[in-house]
Amino acid sequence: MMGDSEMIINHWQRDGIMDAILTALADAGCDVNDLSVDDISPLDHLHGRGLEATEELLARLNFEPVHRVLDIGSGIGGPARYVATRFGCRVEGIDLTPEFCNVAEELTRRVDLLDRIGYCQGDALALPFEDTSFERAYTQNVSMNISNKALFYGEAFRILRPGGLLAAAELVKGPDSEPIYPVPWADIPATSFLADMCETRKTLEQTGFEIVEFTDVTKTMLEFYDRARAKHEAEGPPILGVHVVLGPNAKKKLQNSAHSIEQGRIIPLEVVCRRPAV
Ligand SMILES: C[S@@+](CC[C@H](N)C(=O)[O-])C[C@H]1O[C@@H](n2cnc3c(N)ncnc32)[C@H](O)[C@@H]1O
Repeated sequence: MMGDSEMIINHWQRDGIMDAILTALADAGCDVNDLSVDDISPLDHLHGRGLEATEELLARLNFEPVHRVLDIGSGIGGPARYVATRFGCRVEGIDLTPEFCNVAEELTRRVDLLDRIGYCQGDALALPFEDTSFERAYTQNVSMNISNKALFYGEAFRILRPGGLLAAAELVKGPDSEPIYPVPWADIPATSFLADMCETRKTLEQTGFEIVEFTDVTKTMLEFYDRARAKHEAEGPPILGVHVVLGPNAKKKLQNSAHSIEQGRIIPLEVVCRRPAV
């Protein structure tokens, strides 16, 4: 029988992701031998509202170029490339899915940022970093794949220095409800582990974090979906988007995610919390 980690990797991993990305970029008119972070950004932020959400969430972290930053569940590296270019920080990314780490590294090489970003394959539940080694950490749409939330937030707390900040984009479950499957993070309920809003807050507080912000962003997400649908109707389906990475049933997964949020089955949260200064 497969363990949780194997099931999660199986869910995200597929052959040919890099080729699919390069083909889509070429189809969209980009020169794949001379790519920029902006060229790739429509498809490499693997969470609701994409780059827009990354910009909003991470603006709360008041980065300084000297900060050491950890991206927990770094996917194919879009948010890490954004932080390294926008704020000039050194970023480490860690992700469970080996193929995502390979793609993240290859895309980062192509935009010439490997001197500022390192990726490693590993588990957010056993971060291979020393205690108090980062000033900032963030995690976007990762905890839905993790049942042991206390350990997940505990590891983030451990690697932050006192006074350090964690930003998290979370999807939590609505009252007495489940998402409509498949969703981007799970084809079946067995790989989806959603806490509710109260549990999420309580776990963060019990870990030792001070909550700085804890915001339900459902309305913002629904407005984004309205804009995306209007654009789709006017211009047809976009060439670039996270569907390129999510594989054959991407459309269904993305539709189900949107309907699940519209119906209050799942609630998107933006959270900022601080490891108290000693
Ligand atoms: C929805 S994607 C988000 C990727 C990235 N944070 C972003 O927003 O572009 C979820 C990611 O979480 C990773 N993941 C799931 N469980 C993990 C774990 N236990 N440790 C590290 N990464 C994990 C998956 O491999 C996947 O890359």
